[in-house]
Amino acid sequence: MNDKNKATVAVDNIGDLRKAYSQFPTGVTVITCTDKDNNPIGVTASSFNTVSMDPPLVLWSVDKGALSAPIFNDAKHFAVNVLAENQMALSNKFAGRGTDKFADVNYSKGVGDSLLLEGAIAQFECKTWQVYEGGDHLIIVGEIIKHSIDSPQPPLVFSQGSYAAATTHPEMVNAK
Ligand SMILES: Cc1cc2nc3c(=O)[nH]c(=O)nc-3n(C[C@H](O)[C@H](O)[C@H](O)COP(=O)(O)O)c2cc1C
Repeated sequence: MNDKNKATVAVDNIGDLRKAYSQFPTGVTVITCTDKDNNPIGVTASSFNTVSMDPPLVLWSVDKGALSAPIFNDAKHFAVNVLAENQMALSNKFAGRGTDKFADVNYSKGVGDSLLLEGAIAQFECKTWQVYEGGDHLIIVGEIIKHSIDSPQPPLVFSQGSYAAATTHPEMVNAK
């Protein structure tokens, strides 16, 4: 068994590792909840992924250094807002640290006071299922209580360290 605290050769160069991770394209989400003083909390996250159909489970991971990490650790509910291609500015806003991220943002309340952002292409309202240790991140698994598809926009993509757009593969276009 590897000693979990011992750095392996893979992380000798963090920049290279980050670059290798970035070769895997993802969508972009804003994950939200309400803290114990009823303040709206949100963070841009590309680590979202699906886990299980039955029960319906999803996961994402939050950096332990993020201001919101202890809040999500304690939150009983959260919502995943999948961003549309035209929501890059919103993504940048929620990637800020300690700012008033909800100023000028239209949203409504979801399950357990999670927050649903207007214009998101899909929303998953979740009950926190389990929080796992994941090195310098917390892995947060949620059980979907409600889901919706809101907007017909294409998704916002994050790939190779940059925002991108999802287009139909040329071979698929020719196959039509
Ligand atoms: C496209 C993109 C994806 C991101 N994905 C994550 C993620 O999955 N987990 C995470 O902890 N931070 C992620 N971040 C960084 C956070 O959004 C950023 O650290 C934010 O400032 C955290 O906010 P807070 O400190 O107010 O909690 C991402 C940023 C961007 C731009």
